[in-house]
Amino acid sequence: SKPIGVAVLGMGNVGTEVVRILTESTGDLQARVGAPLELRGVAVRDINTARPSIPAELLTDDPAALVARDDVDIVIELIGGIEPPRTHIRTALQSGKSVVTANKALLADYTGELAAAAAEARVDLYFEAAVAGAIPVIRPLMQSLAGDTVQRVAGIVNGTTNFILSAMAETGADYAETLAEAGRLGYAEADPTADVEGYDAAAKAAILASIAFHSRVTAADVYREGISSITPADLASAAQLDCTIKLLSICERVVDADGAQRISARVYPALIPLSHPLATVNGVFNAVVVEAENAGRLMFYGQGAGGVPTASAVMGDVVMAARNRVYSGRGPLESTYASLPIAPIGSV
Ligand code: HSE
Repeated sequence: SKPIGVAVLGMGNVGTEVVRILTESTGDLQARVGAPLELRGVAVRDINTARPSIPAELLTDDPAALVARDDVDIVIELIGGIEPPRTHIRTALQSGKSVVTANKALLADYTGELAAAAAEARVDLYFEAAVAGAIPVIRPLMQSLAGDTVQRVAGIVNGTTNFILSAMAETGADYAETLAEAGRLGYAEADPTADVEGYDAAAKAAILASIAFHSRVTAADVYREGISSITPADLASAAQLDCTIKLLSICERVVDADGAQRISARVYPALIPLSHPLATVNGVFNAVVVEAENAGRLMFYGQGAGGVPTASAVMGDVVMAARNRVYSGRGPLESTYASLPIAPIGSV
């Protein structure tokens, strides 16, 4: 099949790793997609910043021009924030390009608008990386559980705050120092207020609630409290009660006083017993527990932040979007296996 052209917008922690994987794994990606994935360009803020791993001719500081190119089929938006990403994504979708994004803040408020634009153009809009880094949770909710009724989605969806709370609980570590470390490791947002005040977790809760309940929940609908006022003394008191403190995001169906079905979405530091599965989720790890009418309880666990794990989720979406273009959405999954270049070792 003819090559699938890919454009990457944004070269932060995640963008850098996505470009690395696209460049290093061309053979494997081609085998899974059924066509070569070709990097057409990378939009960066400052074209003069040294980036030895990227050929200079691929760099541009004009993302709109890159999105408009005829030979770009998939746009990977990793800039973050509302504008200009919203415009770039709308333009891409309207011109029939597939879009993969990790943009939580944007999706929290515009999932409806962007999903409608994608549906109208009959192209894919994928955003597995927007919630809980490497953990597959969007696709399970949208596809695997599409025939079930989800009652509740609850968990730890911010790596930075979990890293801070875990360190404070384990060693009584200093809040500010641990936050700085989370920044160095590439977990925290550019402005860590979004992490510590719960805005990032609230955006993710809005996305999860929208998908899980087939509804439109925005960040403004989410009750939110952060962790900036939690002290080592609070964590010590929690430990005395055989508990710990975690920043939880909880989305559930509730029945209001008038008997009407409503959705409650909330983010706050919660006291949870050490015996609870979420109490053992430490460091940058995230976990999401889903309760569905027929499936019962499911738990998803893994690295919730960081460039490399998050790039894994982005690349999964890129492969799926590319396969859908190659096979017109009817891709035989078997081809994934048929193309594996590795032979089995034989009986052991
Ligand atoms: N700042 C976010 C976090 C990054 O700490 O979870 C992943 O969305």
